[in-house]
Amino acid sequence: MSARPSARTAAAPAAAAPLLEVERVTVRFGGLTAIDDVSFAVQPGELLGLIGPNGAGKTTMLRAITGVVRPAAGQVRLEGQALGALPIHERIRRGLALSQQLVRPLRSLSLQENVALAAGRAKTLRPWRAITHVCSAAEMARAQDELARVGIAELATQAAAKQPLGVLKRLEMARAHALDPRLLLLDEPLAGLNSKEARALSETIADINRQGMTVVLIEHNLGEVLRICTRLVVLDNGRKIGEGEPRAVMADPVVRAAYLGTAAASAEDSDAAEAAHA
Ligand SMILES: Nc1ncnc2c1ncn2[C@@H]1O[C@H](COP(=O)(O)OP(=O)(O)OP(=O)(O)O)[C@@H](O)[C@H]1O
Ligand SMILES: [Mg+2]
Repeated sequence: MSARPSARTAAAPAAAAPLLEVERVTVRFGGLTAIDDVSFAVQPGELLGLIGPNGAGKTTMLRAITGVVRPAAGQVRLEGQALGALPIHERIRRGLALSQQLVRPLRSLSLQENVALAAGRAKTLRPWRAITHVCSAAEMARAQDELARVGIAELATQAAAKQPLGVLKRLEMARAHALDPRLLLLDEPLAGLNSKEARALSETIADINRQGMTVVLIEHNLGEVLRICTRLVVLDNGRKIGEGEPRAVMADPVVRAAYLGTAAASAEDSDAAEAAHA
């Protein structure tokens, strides 16, 4: 898949206002600086890959954006508005949705009910209200559409507790998308999937992006990242070490050194290099 016209044109004009701006954000956990003075912006329509070795600070960055952790310094802006000290539910209301690295559905509910709760989220932004919320027919219908979008419509009535990881990853994405976000933040959606499942789910992510959704994708599967992302930001040890067009970024000696520092990543790196030449 080579042509990505909509994303490229959306990202192209220099004057376009960014959807998300991360400005000089620093996050500390006690004595550890997990994010160190990192800035980047996400333009409307982009599928931005946020990559880096284990412990680089990727998940912490998403948590700083969604308000789960508070930066010691810096600012996050959505559509030009500083998110400051806004709580998580207010950030969701303003258009952020996070698909988590660790998937935690409501296990006793069906897949459709899990997504329907998210679809009704405008009314139930706080979890304790969601528990007593009875899903409407419209929410259930919307949930079914979202399950179809991620390819698990036929499992709608199954309990979440019984599903394998591949299904739960898709469920998590359906839940996030059902919030109608302005920006979809995905934390390792492909982790734990075999290569066929990973390819299928990354296609789903690219489709969602082509339909107009701006996406920030954290992923260790660099082959898929290079295939679908329009731009990359690379973190290492809390610092931004690279940013730009995916293949140029991956060719950068500083980025390569960061990845080659870990054996597991070097295997993925050669996969990525192959994919880049495919
Ligand atoms: N709640 C926390 N308390 C203390 N340290 C934390 C916390 N969350 C993350 N860290 C530390 O911050 C650093 C960045 O972690 P983070 O989870 O953001 O990395 P990551 O890039 O998402 O890694 P991975 O690819 O393994 O998921 C690591 O050193 C981690 O141990
Ligand atoms: Mg992480």
